This record gives sequence, structure tokens and C-alpha cells, in this order.
Amino acid sequence: MSREAWNEVDEFVGETLLGSDPALEDALRTSAEAGLPPIAVSPAQGRFLQLLARIHGARSILELGTLGGYSTILLARALPPGGRVTTLELNADYAEVARANIEHAGLGDRVELRVGPAAEGLKTLIAEGAGPFDLVFIDADKSSTPTYFELSLELVRPGGIIVVDNVVRGGAVVDEGTGDEGALGMRRFHELAGRERRVQATTIQTVGLKGYDGFTLMLVDGA
Ligand code: SAH
Ligand code: DHB
Ligand code: MG
Repeated sequence: MSREAWNEVDEFVGETLLGSDPALEDALRTSAEAGLPPIAVSPAQGRFLQLLARIHGARSILELGTLGGYSTILLARALPPGGRVTTLELNADYAEVARANIEHAGLGDRVELRVGPAAEGLKTLIAEGAGPFDLVFIDADKSSTPTYFELSLELVRPGGIIVVDNVVRGGAVVDEGTGDEGALGMRRFHELAGRERRVQATTIQTVGLKGYDGFTLMLVDGA
């Protein structure tokens, strides 16, 4: 299968199953206009993430890596009344774009966006006694994923889930000689998660508009 076919299928899925969504389309447009990189989850992946949050009945969600707020909006819409998304973003300019997009989507009251390095943000949340979160979506800088995973374990409730994006990176995750820091981070993350007795995890490879990549889904034991 060529990349073109993957893209065509994702477009078909978009037309048949996902429908149009002005707030999400506006978020992508304003993000592109502001020069943000086009690396938000694909519409199909975003719907998957949203369904996962709904199936899980997630009321409190933590996201690492906001970008322009595309995945944040999807997650916030999955919340029941009174639910909340906390999202962490390093880049203040991206965060400003995300804030406007989240506000425009009518979700400003359900989303708390914190600007700064995610590792610091996680430590602050732990110190504040925040959470516990029902769902954590790790999607910030890929090389720090092992750290984010370990800190997230302190914030997610027993029975909670952790989703990690971009864990395959075109297959570079299995290339021991790769110079890609992100891929090396994902390799170390898999080794760490495999040894962690508190979680049961799997990785699903994906193709589509975002190329060849994948995500890891983990359930934290002890509910
Ligand atoms: N979740 C978004 C995409 C996030 S892209 C979506 O699917 O719509 C990754 C984001 O992580 C970028 O916005 C980048 O600025 C941010 N990032 C990079 N390093 C970070 C760090 N150390 N702490 C927090 N965010 C970081
Ligand atoms: C990158 C980040 C992402 O979150 C993503 O989904 C794809 C690519 C990146 O930093 O290259
Ligand atoms: Mg991603």
C-alpha cells in the first residue's frame, strides 16, 4: 500500500464517518496561519482518542503537548458535565493560539492550559495534589516520553488509562542505531513500560494522513 492510498482512505473515513466540524477546522486553519507545525493528531485518530475518553467515562484528563488545541478540543468535548482537561504546552505562542481555539470552540471553562516544560508542569501538579486523572494523553517532545510516563503514573488513578502518541516513528523505534532522539525515547519508554508492573500495555501501529506511526495504550492496575 502506498502512502497515497493511506491518505485516500483517511479522507474517505473523514467524509463517511467523521463529518465536518467547524470548530476543529477553524482550529487547524488558525494554527496553520500562525505558523504552527501540522502535527496535530489526524481527524480519525482524534475521533479514536475522543471515543476512548467517552468509553472510559473520563471526567479528568491530562494532556502533554497542546499545540493549537486540536486534540484538546476533542478531549474536552468527550467530558461529562463538570469534567476538566488540564493541558501542558512549552511554547507560549502555540499556547496563545490554542487558548483562542479552545475559547472559540466554547470550551474555555473546561480547559486549563499551563505554559512551561511538561516535566515541570507534572511535578507541580504532583506537588499540588492534583488529579487523580482518569486519562493521560502524552504527546509532547518524544525524547522525554520515559520521564513523562513515570511522572504520569503519580497522577493517574488506579484503573486510569495512559495513551502515548507517536511511538513508532516510521519504524525507527526498532532501529537501535537510529540517531533520532525521539525514536530512542520511544524505545526506552517501551522497555520501561514493559518492566512496570502497575500497567498493562500494548502498541498499535497506524498508517494514514500522519504516515506510519503508532500509539501505546496502557491501563493502570488497581481499580
Ligand atoms: N496534542 C496535539 C499535538 C502536540 S504536538 C494535537 O494532537 O493536537 C507536540 C507539542 O508538544 C508541541 O506543541 C510542542 O511545542 C510541545 N512540546 C515540546 N516540548 C515540550 C515540553 N518540554 N513540554 C511541553 N510541551 C512541549
Ligand atoms: C511530531 C509530534 C507529534 O505529536 C506528532 O503527532 C507528529 C510529529 C513531531 O514533533 O515531529
Ligand atoms: Mg502526536
